[in-house]
Amino acid sequence: MLSKEENAVITQTGAGTRVGELLRRYWTPALMSRELDKPNGDPVRIELLGESFVAWRDAEGRVGIFDEFCMHRGTSLSLARCEGDGLRCIYHGWKFATDGTILETPNFKDPTVRQKLRAPVYPVREAGGLVWVYLGPADLEPPFPHWEFFDLPAETLTIYHTTFDCNWLQMMETSIDPSHVLILHQDTVGVGYTSTGNGAASVGFVATDLAPACEVEDTVFGCNGVALHDAVTDDGRPAKLAKTHCWVMPYMSIQSTAQNFVIYVPIDDERTTLYGVAAGKNMLVDGEQHLRLVAGSPNYYDGKHYRMGASERWGQDRSKLDVTFTGLEGAGPEDLAVVLSRGRIADRTRENLVPADKLVIRMRRRLLQAARDLEAGTEPFMLTPEQSMAIRADERLLEEESDWHELHAGSDGLRLPGRHGRA
Ligand code: FES
Ligand SMILES: [Fe+2]
Repeated sequence: MLSKEENAVITQTGAGTRVGELLRRYWTPALMSRELDKPNGDPVRIELLGESFVAWRDAEGRVGIFDEFCMHRGTSLSLARCEGDGLRCIYHGWKFATDGTILETPNFKDPTVRQKLRAPVYPVREAGGLVWVYLGPADLEPPFPHWEFFDLPAETLTIYHTTFDCNWLQMMETSIDPSHVLILHQDTVGVGYTSTGNGAASVGFVATDLAPACEVEDTVFGCNGVALHDAVTDDGRPAKLAKTHCWVMPYMSIQSTAQNFVIYVPIDDERTTLYGVAAGKNMLVDGEQHLRLVAGSPNYYDGKHYRMGASERWGQDRSKLDVTFTGLEGAGPEDLAVVLSRGRIADRTRENLVPADKLVIRMRRRLLQAARDLEAGTEPFMLTPEQSMAIRADERLLEEESDWHELHAGSDGLRLPGRHGRA
């Protein structure tokens, strides 16, 4: 449970807010590369963290992310003409290159203004099918992390995004919440898929207990968690099915299930873009099956936006309640319905939390602490490319005496000492 003030701080994402400033310290997905597929194609207007930008790929393939509003007198650059080497604002014709160079100012012949000034643009990287942007202070640009999926062939990746109308944190909370999976998703990921039990991950379970033991350890980058389900080995010995997951500060979760990397990027305080990347060995279903599993029926979506609100009962069809547990189709709509029904910004002041909520509780505490530290002048920890590559989730049948921490081998050297971590 949080105080009213803590709930406000942890859900505010705008410039100048405490968590908003923390979020701006990290490389953030701005859009998918395929949304800017054509060199010198149309500029794309994007919204991130309560601000608006324009993304554009020039004729050489370089991506620029500009403040939306022209630096001269504020016309939207989403209206600009694309001229190969730059975007030309249609109001007075100022022309800007992707690195912020002002190429022309036709209504002002003196070149000094364009030599002295630069258009506001932000550092950009393209990797793993996504365009990433850094919106923080220029002198504090962090190393660019290298996630496992960056190295996988494009044909083995399924990358998608969905937008929905609530604060980012409540979706983040559900993605690191192991005890809802076998209950809420019992008709989708809970039944009909079984782990091979030999270390390969799956989208389902061999265990059937609804109350897994949940454990958490603190790391410099966030937290590692595990859900330990009662299970048996093939030859009948008692074991634990360990399903691990990671919360990577601030808005990434890595899971051993089909939806491997999930990033929740605030559009503003009440809208979010979910980027999902299903990758490599953990994806036992093909891309199309995967999307059907997580996204459910296209009826739920208006383009890429989950359009089911309170007046549509968030997509629930009660005539289907004797067919499925939820009356919803697909794990994605199931998550979205329960999360959206908490309100645009969930009230965390009246909860009754239990041990299964451990990782959610820890994440909130760590986020608030990091925001307080930043305000006091301590910058957050930033992963090097090598460290980020080693972080991954897994699932495995463990003999009784085995230690689940071994499944987080990539975190060796990154654990925090103390009560909640392992030195
Ligand atoms: S507003 Fe863009 S050139 Fe004047
Ligand atoms: Fe879920």
